Amino acid sequence: MTLGQREGPRSYDARVHWFRIEGGERLVGAVNIPGAKNSVLKLMAAALLAPGTSTVTNVPDIDDVGIMSELLRRLGCTVTHDRTGAALVIDVPERPDHRADYDLVRRMRASICVLGPLLARCGAADVALPGGDNIGSRGLDLHIAGLRRLGAQVSNEHGYLIAVAERLRGAEIWLDFPSVGATETLVMSAVLAEGRSVIDNVAREPEIVDICTMLVSMGARIHGIGSSTLTVEGVRELSPVRHATVPDRIVAGTYAVAAVMAGGSLEIRGARAEHVSLPLEKLATAGAVIGDAPDGFTVTMDGRPRAIDVVTLPYPGFPTDLQPQFIALNSIAEGAALVTENLFEARFRFVQELARLGADVRTDGHHALVRGRARLSGAPVEATDIRAGAGLVLAGLVADGVTEVYGVDHIDRGYAGLVPTLEGVGGRITREGLSP
Ligand code: UD1
Repeated sequence: MTLGQREGPRSYDARVHWFRIEGGERLVGAVNIPGAKNSVLKLMAAALLAPGTSTVTNVPDIDDVGIMSELLRRLGCTVTHDRTGAALVIDVPERPDHRADYDLVRRMRASICVLGPLLARCGAADVALPGGDNIGSRGLDLHIAGLRRLGAQVSNEHGYLIAVAERLRGAEIWLDFPSVGATETLVMSAVLAEGRSVIDNVAREPEIVDICTMLVSMGARIHGIGSSTLTVEGVRELSPVRHATVPDRIVAGTYAVAAVMAGGSLEIRGARAEHVSLPLEKLATAGAVIGDAPDGFTVTMDGRPRAIDVVTLPYPGFPTDLQPQFIALNSIAEGAALVTENLFEARFRFVQELARLGADVRTDGHHALVRGRARLSGAPVEATDIRAGAGLVLAGLVADGVTEVYGVDHIDRGYAGLVPTLEGVGGRITREGLSP
């Protein structure tokens, strides 16, 4: 179908894509889980720490990887896909440029992850301030305070974060909050610092473990990986490596929720069940049967799920990136659930869109009360961020009639091949509209 044959919402022009979903089909079959978005971008940044050619494999086919590749090219790297298309070959020069411009940083907030590597490698980094986004304000105070502890001078000038230190010095750092981004910035800085750093109350997400593992193969000396205290003995230089990206636990969790909402049975291949143990336990409480599979796990569901309370917390707590999907699940569940969001203050914005499908969700501060409805009814809705988009797609898969999800550029940032994957297991979903 072309856009000329139908009318989208007024705010959209002919360049837009949307997903058209006819709800009501059970999902049966297998889905393959790609490498994690939230890891691969940082692994690409970590490559900056060593001159020469690093290769990152199990790279997901998502828009953010393209933006990060472009950023690395602007810094003087050569970035190419290998023949398989799932590996990125990053050739890092002896002297990378140290300025990350606003036009790229504004497109992808995760660009801030080049700050640590550039400072450690070049003695200076100018990175445009990313600003807030649709899920909240997203401060950088912990990154900045930590870099100052490591001896950097950090200032904010003309919209840029400017950090300078001829060579960083090891230090003891306590993070007020186990921020994923700050942990990454500080570890990637400390690995080339002079002396020992002890970074306490760090994030423990599998993506942090992944990046530390890559750094260790590059020659970094890091102890306590996966715990809340990282001890880093700085080294003079690191070497390029080949590293495989950890599977995307959020994508795996999203398909698991899809199976529970739509009913049916999905084998989630290439995923690590231990990285989603709490979400899977919640799905079991909702009525699903979770099983082992040779390379992942299975989720089987019959009937209507029971409502389940969720509280988001840093890993190993319940991931905020699965919160919208669980709100979608609760919106069709039997009973009522309280969902508490502790990480991003604006992450409930999307419930207004879910309400267009008939969901009954009331929010008060960082709590959402979701009363399950026996049915949702299809309507046009707009994704405001990646995970909100995923939640709306899941709701569309079970709503009566047709749901059109707009704003799919957000979803494309994080979900490689979402449409063919869901189609392949029985979902009636198509991508519509003209290519930009
Ligand atoms: C990363 C993930 C994101 C995920 C989040 C939490 C990427 C690209 N994104 O985001 O998908 O939802 O982890 O698991 O990996 N904060 C401060 N000051 C700081 C740093 C953070 O106040 O210096 C606040 C943030 O505003 C936010 C909270 O801490 O409210 C969590 O942020 P953080 O853990 O750093 O998440 P990100 O790295 O931004």
